[in-house]
Order: sequence, then structure tokens, then C-alpha cells
Amino acid sequence: MLSVTRLNVHYGKIHAVRDASFRVGKGEIVSIVGANGAGKSTIMWTLAGVLKPSSGEILFDGKPLPGKPHEIVRSGLALVPERRRLFAELTVQENLIMGAYLRHDKAIEEDLEKNFALFPILKQRLKQYAGTLSGGEQQMLAIARAMMSSPRMILFDEPSLGLAPIVVDTLMETILQLRENGMTVLLVEQNAGRALEISDRAYVLDVGHIAKEGPGKALLDDPEVRRAYLGELA
Ligand SMILES: Nc1ncnc2c1ncn2[C@@H]1O[C@H](COP(=O)(O)OP(=O)(O)OP(=O)(O)O)[C@@H](O)[C@H]1O
Ligand SMILES: [Mg+2]
Repeated sequence: MLSVTRLNVHYGKIHAVRDASFRVGKGEIVSIVGANGAGKSTIMWTLAGVLKPSSGEILFDGKPLPGKPHEIVRSGLALVPERRRLFAELTVQENLIMGAYLRHDKAIEEDLEKNFALFPILKQRLKQYAGTLSGGEQQMLAIARAMMSSPRMILFDEPSLGLAPIVVDTLMETILQLRENGMTVLLVEQNAGRALEISDRAYVLDVGHIAKEGPGKALLDDPEVRRAYLGELA
């Protein structure tokens, strides 16, 4: 569904993503794990059309990804950004409506109900300001907001950041549930263990380049990955 070939992204002279190639098949959960500064968010903002690659090819459904962020959302790819980026001064309901702003179809009410089935707490908090939700609730709202654009594929940038382990459990269950419902998922995480556990396939990103790839479980058992990303002693 998504195929990225020899992607390079620069910030001025800083070469943040180096010849990275990866793909995500329809219905898969694929993760990219890597340390702070590895280039994970840079890849996500590039896929969302906010950053422009210096070279490389990005195909979505076999066609070049559109250039502008709103065209990308409309083509069915939605980002749940790092640190949620909610509208703190808007209510839960208003945040959800913002997620649907590019749509003209009539299924918005239906999608709202689907979101409430997945996140019942949001229905009880419709009038609450997003900025006053707990971290876990904010993450649910960020996911629900992305879902309101009716995407076929969803990008998660570090969704477990700042959440207690038990809330991360719920979050990972939610991501698995989205896949059950037919969603395709690309997940980037510093929390490598949690991401690899739920991933069909994964890539290890090391200072901008892909150092390893394989099934999630295989990388989870890889001694080098365990030492470098799971804090295991040699
Ligand atoms: N706006 C920017 N200007 C210059 N350099 C940047 C900018 N944003 C990111 N970088 C650099 O690009 C590299 C990759 O950063 P990026 O945010 O993609 O990493 P990351 O893997 O998402 O890290 P983290 O796990 O901390 O979120 C880093 O060296 C970072 O300092
Ligand atoms: Mg990041």
C-alpha cells in the first residue's frame, strides 16, 4: 500500500534520513523503531507532506503520493503526530470535527459513532477542553481525530510517549483493533519492545538509515536489537 524507496530528507545541511527504503502492505502493522534523533518523526512529517524529501520515491497505492498535506489526507493517509498536537483550547467535539474538515460526504455522524464505540470515554467528554484531558485520553482523542478523515492508512508517531504502562497496553490493543477493522498501520516508536510485539514487520532506523528489517517477533529476539533498543546488558 505504501512503498518508500531511497528516501533522503535534509534540514539545511543536516542529512536526517539517508536512503531509507521500506514498505507497508495492506492490512499490516509495520513499525520503525529507533533512538532519539534517528529520523522517525522526519519520516512521518515527510509522509504527511509537511517536509519535502531531497530525493526518493513515495508511492501510495502504486501512485506517487500527492504533494500537499491536505491532498495526502484526502487520498486516505492520516497522521497521529508525536505529542498529539491537539487543539487544547477546543473541546473534544470540536477537535473531532476538525479531523473531518476535508470531508463533504454524509458519513461523518456514522464515523463519530464508530469512534465512540472504540473510545467510549470521548462521548462522555464531548464538551471538555482537550487540554484538560489526561494523557491517555488525549492520545485517544488524537487517534479519533485522525480517524475522522476516514483514512485507509494511519501513521502513528510515538503514541506511547508519556503514558503509563497500563495505558500503553490499552493503546496497543486499540491499534490491533484498528487493524482488525481493516486499517493499515505504520507505527514509529522509541518504545521498541511494545511496538515490535504488535508488528507484523519492522525496521530499525539508525541515524537516518535502515539498519535491519524483519518480522516484529524476530527483531524482538535479536540480541543486537535487545542491547541497543531494549536496554539489555551485553
Ligand atoms: N527543524 C529541524 N531543523 C534542523 N534539524 C532538525 C529539525 N528537526 C529535526 N532535526 C534533526 O533531524 C534528526 C532527526 O530528528 P527526528 O525528530 O526525525 O528524530 P526522531 O527519531 O523522531 O527522534 P525522537 O525519538 O526524539 O522523537 C535529529 O538529528 C534532529 O536534530
Ligand atoms: Mg520523533
